[in-house]
Amino acid sequence: MAGWHTLLACPHCGAGLAETGSALACEAGHSFDVARQGYVNLLPGGASAGTADTPEMVEARMAFLARGHFRTLDDTLADAVAAVVDGTEGCVIDVGAGTGEHLAAVLERLPGRAGLALDISKHAARRAARAHPRIGAVVCDAWGTLPVRDGVAAAVMCVFAPRNAPEFARVLARGGGLVVVTPTPLHLEELVAPLGLVSVDPRKEERLEASLGGHFERRATRVVECRMSLSRADALAAALMGPSAHHMLPGEAESRVADLPEPVAVTLSVSVSMWSIAGAG
Ligand SMILES: C[S@@+](CC[C@H](N)C(=O)[O-])C[C@H]1O[C@@H](n2cnc3c(N)ncnc32)[C@H](O)[C@@H]1O
Ligand SMILES: [Zn+2]
Repeated sequence: MAGWHTLLACPHCGAGLAETGSALACEAGHSFDVARQGYVNLLPGGASAGTADTPEMVEARMAFLARGHFRTLDDTLADAVAAVVDGTEGCVIDVGAGTGEHLAAVLERLPGRAGLALDISKHAARRAARAHPRIGAVVCDAWGTLPVRDGVAAAVMCVFAPRNAPEFARVLARGGGLVVVTPTPLHLEELVAPLGLVSVDPRKEERLEASLGGHFERRATRVVECRMSLSRADALAAALMGPSAHHMLPGEAESRVADLPEPVAVTLSVSVSMWSIAGAG
């Protein structure tokens, strides 16, 4: 995406970045190559956390999302982000963006807005860079200082991903807001026991309040709930794209999925919440 470097900050010294050939560099001489796939790695030291999506998880996510099962979620998400950015200039930042599909759906609703896809997985960033012409993709750690300049975002979105409230507040412009998607305990519940998935913490909403409270105030919440009709291949992809994939033995989900009926009815149940910066009125 052209001009994306103006949104970014050097992960070492915090200064702005300029384009120098196929790299981005700050005035102090810290330089970061833009990969030929179109993303930039701004992870200090280049280390990647164990929570990064693996190439297999990224493939599973691409396959599942391509089947359109989350379209209802994307519609609600795009409505929420469009409402949040209304009247505020700035880009849309997706933290833990994965393959960038949700951000691409949101940008389709917002002509002319730039999007930044941040993820610790370079495999995910590679995909996100290609998901939409207005997406710039950056490898970074959401738990650290985001390599993004203060106040450049009209919206931050966070879909099933790590929430770093003080950093979200810092990168948001005055008047901007946060949109968070979290699973409810009913999400994919029909697959939990048969495929050995990690179940959703019943206190997820409390944890959401605890993680954002102090920095953000909740403005609205919508629950998106529907039944998906999944093939065994879809159900397998749903298992392999989520956090449970980090805990499974090789081949475990593949062998368990054979016992499912086909198609299998599976619940999609997520909460889409909109937050404004605390004290912003
Ligand atoms: C469950 S996936 C959700 C991806 C995407 N938001 C979606 O819904 O399709 C969680 C994402 O968070 C990323 N992630 C995990 N830990 C992270 C961290 N510390 N910083 C940035 N991204 C992280 C993973 O690589 C993965 O892409
Ligand atoms: Zn620097």
